[in-house]
Amino acid sequence: MPDVAAEAARRRTFAIISHPDAGKTTLTEKLLLFGGAIQMAGSVKGRKAARHATSDWMKLEQERGISVTSSVMQFPYEGRVVNLLDTPGHADFGEDTYRVLTAVDSALMVIDVAKGVEERTIKLMEVCRMRDTPIMTFINKLDREGREPIELLDEVESVLGIQCAPVTWPIGMGKRLKGVVHLITGEVHLYEQGRNFTRQDSTIFPSIDDPGLEARIGADMLAGLRDELELVQGASHAFDAQEYLAGRQTPVFFGSAVNNFGVQPLLDFFVRHAPPPQPRATTDRVVAPAEPKLTGFVFKIQANMDPQHRDRVAFMRVCSGRFEAGMKTFHVRTGKDMKLANALTFMASDREIAAEAYPGDVIGIHNHGTISIGDTFTEGEQFAFTGIPNFAPELFRRARLRDPLRLKQLQKGLAQLSEEGATQFFRPLMSNDLILGAVGVLQFDVAAYRLKAEYGVDAIFEPVGVVTTRWVHCDSERKLEEFREKNATNLGIDAAGELVYLAPTRVNLQLAQERWPDVRFDATREQA
Ligand code: G4P
Repeated sequence: MPDVAAEAARRRTFAIISHPDAGKTTLTEKLLLFGGAIQMAGSVKGRKAARHATSDWMKLEQERGISVTSSVMQFPYEGRVVNLLDTPGHADFGEDTYRVLTAVDSALMVIDVAKGVEERTIKLMEVCRMRDTPIMTFINKLDREGREPIELLDEVESVLGIQCAPVTWPIGMGKRLKGVVHLITGEVHLYEQGRNFTRQDSTIFPSIDDPGLEARIGADMLAGLRDELELVQGASHAFDAQEYLAGRQTPVFFGSAVNNFGVQPLLDFFVRHAPPPQPRATTDRVVAPAEPKLTGFVFKIQANMDPQHRDRVAFMRVCSGRFEAGMKTFHVRTGKDMKLANALTFMASDREIAAEAYPGDVIGIHNHGTISIGDTFTEGEQFAFTGIPNFAPELFRRARLRDPLRLKQLQKGLAQLSEEGATQFFRPLMSNDLILGAVGVLQFDVAAYRLKAEYGVDAIFEPVGVVTTRWVHCDSERKLEEFREKNATNLGIDAAGELVYLAPTRVNLQLAQERWPDVRFDATREQA
């Protein structure tokens, strides 16, 4: 039987973060090409349309079973097993992105050479910061005119607050692009326009002193390059594996994803230096990946991935041990045993039935409503992985039915949608309203569309007097009961049955907090 420790050590599980249009989709496609998963390329491309228009992606999702929300791609490379967890591009799905980032061991940040650090990169970086996630950086679109490389590194350092260690350095840019120099191996990779490079057909010189290089790039350019390299090596940091792993330094690569240029040095470096699965904290103890018993947590739930079977899949990140098809596991939250018979893996071509999986891998579990985001699975131990929060939504609408007889279906639909985590569903204690909360406006359109398509419910969402919510906790039962009685008009229950304060205004919330110092008003709910 394969050794869990050795299999874990081979895994590299990561996500790509970027501002829309920087080239995340294109880079994903090229990485998959190197991993031999060419079939997948088309469908990755397809998802790109997702963010452009609501109607577009709805159609897309319907036709192809592709979801705007994250998916998982696994491919082998150089003896490693790489798991790439896709993060949704649309800003409305930030919460979902956040949870994907809790399931990875490192991240790859893509920056557009002309645009530099953009707003969404900053936000995503903040999230990575919270967990000290190690980050590599790819500066993309070198085939176009962009900003000075030195200036870009400066911007990353000052705006994102992370040290840069260039690993490759561009020779020219735009029309003058000649290649990149690998600052660690000294190799020069030439750029030959119009060809999609693979390891076999790219021209590589062993060093800038190679006599053949001058003939290719010209004496002037070579002299300029020598000067620049001297400057760069003096002014920037050398790669330091410890600093990178601590999340304090980012190795930087330059290239052009669409031309598949500069991608291979990145991937080679990535599989070598990116961290394997890391130990994870639980409510009880820290779990090491090499432990023999299976543990994992659910970071995402996704519906209708397969249009033929309207299935819902819970994505579980394996944290330790070995998963085997059909094995019996313990679902900690419900306290019940659960046999994982038809779990899916995400090999890059198609979903397959998982025969086995190891730490760092993601498996898909068919879900009929019993599994929630944040749930922990073990082989019997009673603990929960921590750090997978639900956020208080920022926007609220009341669901109104066109046909009142469909109330049951509406409730069921809203409850199931909120299980997937993108929206949250509340029932006020004192009324029969059904209130949906979301972090972005687009999600209400998505909810209305899906209620109709999947539950046959024609609902509209109208304004409601709620501005924010807080999960309510109190150590004293008696105090909580008193609070409940006095504030019943502003209280509700979420889909998981937790008590929630539905604040009509910020001022109201503030007053309630002042009046009830013993009551905790939490903006996030740890799902455990
Ligand atoms: P995203 O997922 O981060 O949003 O970015 P995506 O890969 O979709 O890339 C955004 C646009 O940038 C695409 O062009 C893509 O072709 C282009 N692009 C990606 N990498 C490079 C590169 O290295 N050089 C240049 N010049 N362009 C690049 P589009 O016009 O939106 O789409 P398409 O019609 O080309 O597919």
